[in-house]
Amino acid sequence: MKTFSLIVCFFFGFILLSSFNFPEAAGRFQLQACRPSGTITGKTPPPGQCNQENDSDCCKTGEKYKTYTCSPDITSETRATLTINSFEKNGDGGGPSECDGHYHSDSIPIVALSTGWYKGGSRCFNNITIRYNGRSVSAMVVDECDSTMGCDEDHDYQPPCPNNIVDGSKAVWEALGISDPDDVGSLDITWSEN
Ligand SMILES: *[C@@H]1O[C@H](CO)[C@@H](O)[C@H](O)[C@H]1NC(C)=O
Ligand SMILES: *[C@@H]1O[C@H](CO)[C@@H](O)[C@H](O)[C@H]1NC(C)=O
Repeated sequence: MKTFSLIVCFFFGFILLSSFNFPEAAGRFQLQACRPSGTITGKTPPPGQCNQENDSDCCKTGEKYKTYTCSPDITSETRATLTINSFEKNGDGGGPSECDGHYHSDSIPIVALSTGWYKGGSRCFNNITIRYNGRSVSAMVVDECDSTMGCDEDHDYQPPCPNNIVDGSKAVWEALGISDPDDVGSLDITWSEN
């Protein structure tokens, strides 16, 4: 009888452990995989819309654009693509910053993060360290680069953001030793939380 109880106890113990571990393991797997959450079919912007200055990408009719609610897992060396953004009024960043509803000067190091990394605003005003080619800069998170929507007026008729973007002000690029971000376009960088 005692042996039987022991076996039953182990059995249920095992079930209990499994049920705690599996969802976490599944969640991790999902994050690493980060599959698209949907697609948007592009519409050509109305005349005069979508600022094509500095090679901004504009949506095209019939083209499919993937959307994401997730981003790759964050590590001490998270790989990302650095792009250039203006956070100023009348810049190419569209509306004011998501974190505080304000515009910001491009001469301070600030960034927008893809939706998954922006995490519903929970990284707002945190500083992240961005590394490139032996240099690093600490930059404050002030905005979201929306991976879930695009090709509409709110997004200046630009496609949804990829899921691995750090969209930095001119000051971020300058601190990394690049004075002509508009000519470079994008850079492979790594970042980490401070
Ligand atoms: C395009 O690039 C130029 C030169 O870097 C910059 O002065 C201008 O503000 C940029 N335009 C937009 C819309 O960001
Ligand atoms: C981020 O850096 C700025 C500028 O150095 C600083 O004022 C701010 O307090 C920092 N934010 C956090 C959350 O530490």
